[in-house]
Amino acid sequence: MISEKIQNILNEQINKEFYSAYLYLAMSAYFDEIGLKGFSNWTRVQAREEVDHGMILFDYIIERQGKVNLRQIDMPETSFGDTLEVFEKIYSHEKYVTDSINCVANMTDEECDLATRYFINWYIKEQVEEEANVDDVIKKIKLFGGEKAALYHLDKELASREYKYHSYES
Ligand code: FEO
Repeated sequence: MISEKIQNILNEQINKEFYSAYLYLAMSAYFDEIGLKGFSNWTRVQAREEVDHGMILFDYIIERQGKVNLRQIDMPETSFGDTLEVFEKIYSHEKYVTDSINCVANMTDEECDLATRYFINWYIKEQVEEEANVDDVIKKIKLFGGEKAALYHLDKELASREYKYHSYES
């Protein structure tokens, strides 16, 4: 069984993951609206991954005989700037999520909860990958984004991202 402190921080993290899904969906709708279908696809796939992140936490709390407390999800913003601005916003949001996951890890140390510490390691690794993926897109936008033809090709590249169920074990 998990302690109340661990239960609370994991429930807060569920909310952050579902908010992330909302934020990515809002961005996906925006990109779709301005005709960047590939960017829209990339953020839409990311939204689905965020739901997986939330659900893995949800299942873990239940498995540890804890109580899931779903909280209100904040409304994401609905208007955005150019592709670089959006991806810089994504990068800073993911850094915020990384900090939040690190706080969960710290709390597992304080509470001597080794099982949750082991569990949360997956998220620590996942955040490294997420920040790197976003940074990769930012670098490409900075290198080529000013050119319309390059933006067209980058949009095509981002259109190829496919959703794959994110399992805690993989
Ligand atoms: Fe679930 Fe993008 O952090």
